[in-house]
Amino acid sequence: MGELETSTGQTPDSLMLHGFWYRALPGGQVSRNRLHKAMLLETPLVIGRDRQGKPFALRDACPHRGMPLSCGRFDGQNLECSYHGWKFDAHSGQCQLIPSLTSDQELKVDRIYAGSHPCEEHDDYIWVFIPEPPPAGAGFSKAGEPPLPAPRVPTFEGKYEIAHLTADLPCSVDHGIIGLMDPAHGPFVHQAWWWRSRHSIHEKQKNFEPIPMGFRMSAHTPSSNSAPYKLLRLYADADSITTTIDFVLPNLRLETIRAGKYWFSSLTTVTPITRSHCRIDVVACWNIFRWIPFGPRLLKFVFAKFVEQDRQTMENQSEGLKHNPHLMLIDDADRPAKWYFQLKAAYLESCRAGGEMRHPMTGPVTLKWRS
Ligand code: FES
Ligand SMILES: [Fe+2]
Repeated sequence: MGELETSTGQTPDSLMLHGFWYRALPGGQVSRNRLHKAMLLETPLVIGRDRQGKPFALRDACPHRGMPLSCGRFDGQNLECSYHGWKFDAHSGQCQLIPSLTSDQELKVDRIYAGSHPCEEHDDYIWVFIPEPPPAGAGFSKAGEPPLPAPRVPTFEGKYEIAHLTADLPCSVDHGIIGLMDPAHGPFVHQAWWWRSRHSIHEKQKNFEPIPMGFRMSAHTPSSNSAPYKLLRLYADADSITTTIDFVLPNLRLETIRAGKYWFSSLTTVTPITRSHCRIDVVACWNIFRWIPFGPRLLKFVFAKFVEQDRQTMENQSEGLKHNPHLMLIDDADRPAKWYFQLKAAYLESCRAGGEMRHPMTGPVTLKWRS
């Protein structure tokens, strides 16, 4: 008998995972002479670049009386609050100056910190680490080091093209993520003459395996019912095409397509902005079709079309979700969504209880669905 689970215990809650790197802004949007506001996990940030162009991210609230630091002035090294002129080092958040202090007042200015976040830039994006919130009353202190570097788009040897796309989704991060991993919406949402029609629906079988903090759709030859794959097969010699798709907590979807010496890879993230709002960012790198004059633009067009179809769908879905309807996840086609919720629960449990995270999958699994 098929499983049918109602929303009990599987409800997409809007809990946002702290202790991870998140994409904050496309690097190209952040210039040296301006301060930029960003929001990640309901944390307001001010993002900028120092004189050397290196990005920084501070909490957008002065530790003195909460004035947004984005209202202040930046000299390429220190950020000055617009209210009482306290100055902070843009990278460490360490206070450098409190103008109201007299020379005989001995307050140790350098023990005060504005909230600062580790910040890295690569693959067209500025990434910011969002730590666990400090215990109440802990005060402002120096930011800790993140346990891992920020994720990267996998790339393989040689020259490649890179492009990114972004779209705001009016739903919680959970709906954004399960929308991304849902195999059954393809024939209904992603129709286009050059891609596929709903009549091309057929039975599929895919192998999945557990990987640290996530799961993998094992390397397989991509589905034959889409024109671009047919083209690629012609171009890069038939059977050698393989696709691997990984999902890794908190929000990463990595897809790699390899066809002989050609490859295409993408890293898609769904970033919680607030509890009810998220953003999808896709960065793709490829060395396929580089010699075609319009290759990059063509690929970007195809990608943009997909992302827009998903965005429009989720915008409509958010109407339906407004009044908390009862939801269900059904067997194989929704199994990845269930794994996501189980992984998240297992991760939170390991944080709470300490110790290793218990992976919800015990070994490889084959799923079947029609799409
Ligand atoms: S609020 Fe920033 S210096 Fe007072
Ligand atoms: Fe989609």
